[in-house]
Amino acid sequence: MRKNIVAGNWKMNNDLAQTKSLLADLKKQTKTSNAEVMVAPTFTNLYHAFEALRTTDIEVIAQNMHFAENGAYTGEISAAMLKSIGVQTVILGHSERREYFNETDELLAKKVDTALANNMRIIFCFGEELADRKSGNEETIVGSQIKKALFHLGAAAFQNIVLAYEPVWAIGTGETASPEQAQDMHAFIRKTLADKYGNDVADEVSILYGGSVKPANAEEIFSKPDVDGGLIGGAALKADDFYAIVNAF
Ligand code: PGA
Repeated sequence: MRKNIVAGNWKMNNDLAQTKSLLADLKKQTKTSNAEVMVAPTFTNLYHAFEALRTTDIEVIAQNMHFAENGAYTGEISAAMLKSIGVQTVILGHSERREYFNETDELLAKKVDTALANNMRIIFCFGEELADRKSGNEETIVGSQIKKALFHLGAAAFQNIVLAYEPVWAIGTGETASPEQAQDMHAFIRKTLADKYGNDVADEVSILYGGSVKPANAEEIFSKPDVDGGLIGGAALKADDFYAIVNAF
């Protein structure tokens, strides 16, 4: 059975004091759903967050990492550094990384390989822009993003990969894909996986939706059969809102 997952991507928000306060608020929450819960603080607060949440069932994950094992890459963070503080999971391919930091499918394929070689789990993000959706090209774009970054992998790799469909036009805009739009795309993604790796692999991969998920819309989105959870940005910055989403399953 594939897992339900709700992951909070805090992006470049929260200094240490704010992080401590949000972590304390998260520890007061009660989970009534079966979803796995993850939070991704910024790098400077990862170690603190890992220690603070050690006794909880909330997993602390990273927002990004470099493809090289180590070396002269000023400002970058390696898989081994993440693992050395207990972080086992990394978000790769977020649209903000693609857009503002020129991360291409080819670069992301290298990051994917490095994460897997270090036995890390990946939340791999992709999604079309508004112009692609308007021109009816969303499936072509999404299919190509998945194939270019992931289809060199063997089937076993997908035990450590979670997919996150995040239409760029819905991220931080207040505009959400309708539950039907999300379901249609998630079904397409699962079929794309099934065509290459077979139904057994495709059925086991969790596919998250991301883009303006809020307490008010989470339940309807999560009720769709191919939506296995969410990657949450803005609403993950308030513990009450985040747990309302976690408990929407
Ligand atoms: P949002 O961000 O929930 O603020 O739209 C989602 C994301 O970027 O993962």
